[in-house]
Amino acid sequence: MDAYEIAVIPGDGIGPEVVDAALPIVADAAENAGFSFETTRFDWGTERYLDRDEMMPDDGLDRLSGFDSIFLGAVGHPEVPDHVTLHGLLLPIRKGFDQYVCKRPNVLFEGIESPLRGYGAGDVDFVVYRENTEGEYASVGGREHRGFDHETAVQSALFTRRGTERIVRAAFEAAAEREGRLTSITKSNAQAHSMVFWDDVVEDVAAEFPSVEVERLLVDAAAMDLIRRPHEFDVLVASNLFGDILTDVGAQITGSMGLAPSGNVHPGESYPSMFEPVHGSAPDIVGEGVANPLATVLSWSMLFEELGEIGAADALWNAVTDQLADEDAPRTPDIGGTAGTGAVVADLRSRL
Ligand code: NAD
Ligand code: IPM
Ligand code: MN
Repeated sequence: MDAYEIAVIPGDGIGPEVVDAALPIVADAAENAGFSFETTRFDWGTERYLDRDEMMPDDGLDRLSGFDSIFLGAVGHPEVPDHVTLHGLLLPIRKGFDQYVCKRPNVLFEGIESPLRGYGAGDVDFVVYRENTEGEYASVGGREHRGFDHETAVQSALFTRRGTERIVRAAFEAAAEREGRLTSITKSNAQAHSMVFWDDVVEDVAAEFPSVEVERLLVDAAAMDLIRRPHEFDVLVASNLFGDILTDVGAQITGSMGLAPSGNVHPGESYPSMFEPVHGSAPDIVGEGVANPLATVLSWSMLFEELGEIGAADALWNAVTDQLADEDAPRTPDIGGTAGTGAVVADLRSRL
């Protein structure tokens, strides 16, 4: 079989630290499972921007389009406004490759102390299906009369039937394969256009999945309930912005941003999907060698799963599970240890 071709964009801050640390164990997992992959590294990001005024080349998406998958570290740099860097690199890939399913699992692993009292291993295990190409991130709007008293900024959200139906359907399909419970997140008490429309779509799609129990939750109440009763959630489906916010809550109740993986998936063959840790470039710890690489390793597990390489996907996921359950294993400071990124990966490799 030919080797998979994977584009790797380490990006900014701790992005290169975690991406480079994880590559050897990812290669081990592939080799053990009997397949190979080639990586092509793209040094796109804010250093490039500071040098030549662009985060990636004009034909960046064309260059990525032939790959089987994409792995990204993080984007964001203290010296350049975030809307410039993110709209220059990460967001155009999600949108350009129509990666409309942003899949973010939140699992409380054995050996991880949740900040929630009384919660232990396995008590939290849900996945957020975040709409990833439109909604509040559609960039519809503008800013006029800069600097005047009557300056106006408009930031609209765009919800199409096609865009909403397909993420809702993907979430129902996931729920049908899991515990059969779907929670739809809206703010339809205040946002009477977009979110009432979202409710209507959920009702329509629900008819196709009679076995799935549907709960509707307003996003403010959902933020509360993810802390009050996270054990009751199975699959959550949310708009782009609400999904973004709730997945940071999910990461923290399951231990750390450093443990939360994600996939930006375009189902089908037309475009590559992209996998990345949920966290950002973490400028507060960059260069210290203490970034947790496990979110990156788990994101590679999701990448292999998407390619159908279940053996390698499980091996990586199980190595992480095994390491976290071992109280003598090295761990990074975000989850209560004193070890560095390299020591964690070295230990992880011995567990494959
Ligand atoms: P962040 O995720 O970078 O950091 C939040 C907190 O979590 C920090 O205290 C950080 O040290 C910690 N943290 C994050 N990842 C960690 C890891 N692997 N190990 C240990 N600790 C970790 O979020 P932020 O501080 O809000 O944003 C920083 C920059 O990253 C900004 O420029 C932001 O726009 C960008 N960002 C990018 C992405 C992305 O590329 N997908 C995601 C979120 C934020
Ligand atoms: C994430 C990030 C991005 C998002 C930002 C950096 C644009 O927070 O991947 O969760 O909002 O999607
Ligand atoms: Mn986020």
